Amino acid sequence: MTPITCIADLQALAKRRVPKMFYDYADTGSWTQSTYHDNEAAFQRQKLRQRVAVNIDNRSVKTKMIGEDVTMPLALAPVGLTGMQHADGEILAAQAAEKFGVPFTLTTMSVCSIEDVAEYTSKPFWFQLYVMRDRGFSESLMKRAYAANCSALCLTLDLQVLGQRHRDIKNGLSTPPNPTPRVLLDLALKPRWCWNMLQTKRRQFGNIHGHVSGVDDMTSLAEWTNSQFDPTLDWSSVEWVKKHWDRKLILKGINDVEDAKIAADVGADAIVVSNHG
Ligand SMILES: Cc1cc2nc3c(=O)[nH]c(=O)nc-3n(C[C@H](O)[C@H](O)[C@H](O)COP(=O)(O)O)c2cc1C
Repeated sequence: MTPITCIADLQALAKRRVPKMFYDYADTGSWTQSTYHDNEAAFQRQKLRQRVAVNIDNRSVKTKMIGEDVTMPLALAPVGLTGMQHADGEILAAQAAEKFGVPFTLTTMSVCSIEDVAEYTSKPFWFQLYVMRDRGFSESLMKRAYAANCSALCLTLDLQVLGQRHRDIKNGLSTPPNPTPRVLLDLALKPRWCWNMLQTKRRQFGNIHGHVSGVDDMTSLAEWTNSQFDPTLDWSSVEWVKKHWDRKLILKGINDVEDAKIAADVGADAIVVSNHG
């Protein structure tokens, strides 16, 4: 195999190996995709000031994030369905993050469950919470993350309604894949992916499947999930979360300075300035 030397190589490899519906899920945005494109362009606009003749023999980017030692100021963001990009993807990503000394954030919408990731890692990871209409379920997720020794809860505030993702609709995205002729053709073209998927038992939304009564098959799971993102989520909901979580709290999706001030007032330990594409 050609050596991987940059992110573009990884992207090309993923495109070759991952079924189109999951590749497109990761590599497209919602509606006009303007946020998706801006997210990348914003980094390209950043320039570093170059100073010379400084002894850089012992350079290091080690620092602390929310009080935790990290080898560089970077954390793996929560990414839904990572376990569909590669079998057991969340476990593998969490192990890689642990190896490199940066935090891993497990999404509510993961394929591997909180317990799975805890079992296969040795350091605490962060858990990202989508507050669901079923507050009892959200509460149980927090309890499970707490029991799994997650050191921080990353509460996403910018996804009360799902943005329309045109490609996902066209590709018939679902977890696990719905065996229509088109989907079967998509999978058949990726035999390595299929083989790896057959070796794992993790092919559902691991944090949800088996944890919500009445939601036990693929159709009911999809319906339940789509109906659960809570449009009433507001600052009082953040207070509610705080009552159930006494470890570090990170508020994610903050993009306005006024919201950042409120986040500080409600006692957030950190904010993530980012948004869903
Ligand atoms: C495929 C994909 C799935 C994502 N899933 C989640 C998720 O489950 N929870 C969440 O809070 N953010 C999710 N995000 C948003 C990311 O965590 C992150 O905030 C966003 O991609 C912006 O960061 P970036 O510019 O580094 O991509 C997702 C993003 C992508 C691209």
